[in-house]
Amino acid sequence: MDFKLLPYITCPCHRETPLRVEQIGRVVDGAIETGRLRCSHCATSYPIVDGILDLLGRQWPGSIAQFVNVLPLAAWAYERTWRPLALSILSGEQFPLERELTLITELAGVERGGLMIDVGCSNGLYARALEQARRRSGVDGFVVGIDLSLPMLQEARQRARRAGLHINFIRASAQALPFASGTASVLVMGGSLNEIGDIPAALAEWRRLLAPRGRGVMMSLAAASGQLGRTFQQALGSGGLQFPTLDELNQYVAQAGLQLRAQWQYGIVVFSVVQ
Ligand SMILES: C[S@@+](CC[C@H](N)C(=O)[O-])C[C@H]1O[C@@H](n2cnc3c(N)ncnc32)[C@H](O)[C@@H]1O
Repeated sequence: MDFKLLPYITCPCHRETPLRVEQIGRVVDGAIETGRLRCSHCATSYPIVDGILDLLGRQWPGSIAQFVNVLPLAAWAYERTWRPLALSILSGEQFPLERELTLITELAGVERGGLMIDVGCSNGLYARALEQARRRSGVDGFVVGIDLSLPMLQEARQRARRAGLHINFIRASAQALPFASGTASVLVMGGSLNEIGDIPAALAEWRRLLAPRGRGVMMSLAAASGQLGRTFQQALGSGGLQFPTLDELNQYVAQAGLQLRAQWQYGIVVFSVVQ
């Protein structure tokens, strides 16, 4: 956990109260590897272990989909197996990762720098793309990856380190992002909306966090149009996955007080830019 990021991190229960350093164990390359942060409002203390700040403690996954993501095997396999193929399969056209990541970083406007957050980051694919783009453009800023699953965050951290990228990872809920209002210049989310649980609460957090010129970019999966696809999605629904139609998605966006700036659909894959 980067010392320079600390002023931005707030208590998930008192989201305008910055966390203070309670204890520092090990420091490596100017970042806290082990230690504790504390909320001055409610006195809750949160551990940093292996560089990852854990704001959730013993919180259990709320659905089968979220449970699968805390399995170490799922975390290990995610970017090694499914992720590189996902968009080509789901869009029905050639959609390699390079195309997706270029789209995400260009739409996000990384060259503005500042606090950039990958919500539901899994293995940190978008977070790494944001940090690489930030470096190329030479602006100041921080990239933070947020996820419920500790194994996903551990894998994300290893991947970022192997790539020589400095990214901070926090175990937190998309419905209680640990940052003060109006502090994020970029929010991204790749596929997580479909399994995030309470979508209105998660999008309300985007509205709260986005700075006046901030931008949110989301890749999500829409309801299938064919009967077979719809039946499959309904079956996945019992595991906690949701597939809103485009209209429903856009209603969620509007109800959260966000403005939809642009949207593209390829098969069931939807890219949305919000402010
Ligand atoms: C589809 S994967 C995300 C993939 C990743 N964004 C990518 O582009 O490779 C969904 C991730 O969201 C996380 N997740 C699910 N519900 C969440 C919530 N309420 N808050 C934070 N993370 C959540 C899961 O643990 C999982 O790692």
